[in-house]
Amino acid sequence: MSVHDDIDRILFDEQQIKTAIDRVAAEVSRGYGDRGFTVVSVLKGSCVFASDLIRRIPNRIELAFLAASSYGAGTESGELRIDFVPTGSEIEDRDLLLVDDILDTGRTLSKLREELQRRGARSVRTCVFLDKPSRRSVPISADFRCFEVENLFVVGYGLDYAGRYRNLPYVGALRRELYS
Ligand code: XMP
Repeated sequence: MSVHDDIDRILFDEQQIKTAIDRVAAEVSRGYGDRGFTVVSVLKGSCVFASDLIRRIPNRIELAFLAASSYGAGTESGELRIDFVPTGSEIEDRDLLLVDDILDTGRTLSKLREELQRRGARSVRTCVFLDKPSRRSVPISADFRCFEVENLFVVGYGLDYAGRYRNLPYVGALRRELYS
């Protein structure tokens, strides 16, 4: 038995992911022109996406991380906790590209963006791997995104269920009996 056995169907395979990241990396690079910026990757979910994305961006960039987690396991996001944020000098007067795995209700990304602005960022743009617009409860849209996804719980390529499946090289829907 392997993680692959728990997947009902593949939504985006490795080739589709590569093509989408090439497109988004080019959009990001065009969006910043000659300027450098700092990529702020939201742990843990965006680490796989961010590491592929930054290697396709030719601008002078720096990399920072912040950790955000929702209280409680399961498939519904709860109260957001920011575990650590980049240091003041990594944020103040910097142009930041906040990178997350999935934009779902929008609560996480909008709170994190607010927090970075409050701490003195010059600008904060957002880039997400997946976008689930049907679930939005906070009015936010990402500046850059790879894929729109239907209202399904998805795993792989950094996204987890109860801590597992981040290592899948594709995005898949988990077999329903495993989480319902
Ligand atoms: P919000 O609702 O704040 O959620 O936009 C963003 C965070 O919720 C998690 N999330 C998911 N994780 N499969 C996952 O593995 C999903 O389908 C899913 N939907 C939301 C994720 O941590 C994200 O950063």
